[in-house]
Amino acid sequence: MDGTGSAAPERLVVERGRRSGQVIAISVDSTRLGPALGGCRVRAYPTWRDGVVDAVRLSAAMTEKAALAGLRHGGGKTVVALEPGFAGPRADLLADVGDLVEGFGGDYVTGPDVGTGPADMVGIGRRTRHVLCRPEAEGGSGDSSVPTALGVGAALDAVRAHLWPGRDLSALSFAVHGLGHVGALVARRLAAAGARLVVSDVDTSRRALAESLGAAWVSPEEALVADVDVLVPCAVGGVLTAGIVGDLRCAAVVGAANNQLDHDATADLLHARGVLWAPDPVVSGGGVIASVAREREGASAREAEERVRGIGARLGRILDAATASGTTPLHETRRVVRELLAAA
Ligand SMILES: NC(=O)c1ccc[n+]([C@@H]2O[C@H](COP(=O)([O-])OP(=O)(O)OC[C@H]3O[C@@H](n4cnc5c(N)ncnc54)[C@H](O)[C@@H]3O)[C@@H](O)[C@H]2O)c1
Repeated sequence: MDGTGSAAPERLVVERGRRSGQVIAISVDSTRLGPALGGCRVRAYPTWRDGVVDAVRLSAAMTEKAALAGLRHGGGKTVVALEPGFAGPRADLLADVGDLVEGFGGDYVTGPDVGTGPADMVGIGRRTRHVLCRPEAEGGSGDSSVPTALGVGAALDAVRAHLWPGRDLSALSFAVHGLGHVGALVARRLAAAGARLVVSDVDTSRRALAESLGAAWVSPEEALVADVDVLVPCAVGGVLTAGIVGDLRCAAVVGAANNQLDHDATADLLHARGVLWAPDPVVSGGGVIASVAREREGASAREAEERVRGIGARLGRILDAATASGTTPLHETRRVVRELLAAA
């Protein structure tokens, strides 16, 4: 579900940062439900134009994610397309991003994404208050991977109840693809619940964690096609391709990785193959739900957790509706988004 960005964004600003000299694109896809949310991605692209295209595509995906999270927010994204070998001061880059975010006057709120973290939000926050997930010591809600993993846990419970009512996690097996911030937390929870675990990461230093959890360690390619009940993608996007669907041996795919499908049509192939795919914009919404609850709505940590757990019920409704109508969860998800936007 790659948020194709086929409709033009509401507002697209592309500028060369006056301090850093790097091209920064901010795409606000929609403010129909409220101020647009979406993180700041910093990475190198083949050309700066590719970065702009990515910002537009990712901002459309954020509109879906925010709506599906039940937030009164739209979708946006910042992309900084780094020049090869850029080694300028980080503070300049962040100040340039902060100025551009501030120019949206509150219609766009940024946060961490690939290539940025909570500490970078402090730098951006020196130029604008429209930023989420600064470290807790700086007044923000900090690392979002904890609530994201909590949301994945709620989604896994919903899929368990949908496909295997009456069985608990200890009777099921899981392959976790990517043992980073989110994947490690999810794997720990599954191990604690007594589930059979297969895990993998391109970073072989993560193997020590696998051993401490009593999990089998396999290559990333093997993890994707492991003979388990549930595949849990927590590494990179695009892992569900037309080519791999035929090789999958799991009954369900439920994970935090953004944009898991290479194309929307792959959802139909998964459905035809009898593999239940839980749409990642629903599953991975825990971080954004918690940071909005804590930082914009003044919710307590406990209340924020409750809202994140709501991902389970929301996904359950989507899966039930898809089953009842014989459509795919992706189809049902898109219908829900359309309904929410039309009602705004
Ligand atoms: N952190 C969050 O709050 C959050 C929120 C929503 C979605 N996500 C998505 O969840 C995924 C994981 O996020 P994270 O914060 O844990 O990131 P991370 O960078 O901490 O972890 C990703 C892990 O995947 C590994 N990896 C990279 N390529 C791989 C491959 N081809 N095969 C196997 N392993 C590979 C990396 O070595 C790393 O350990 C990402 O797709 C991210 O976009 C994260």
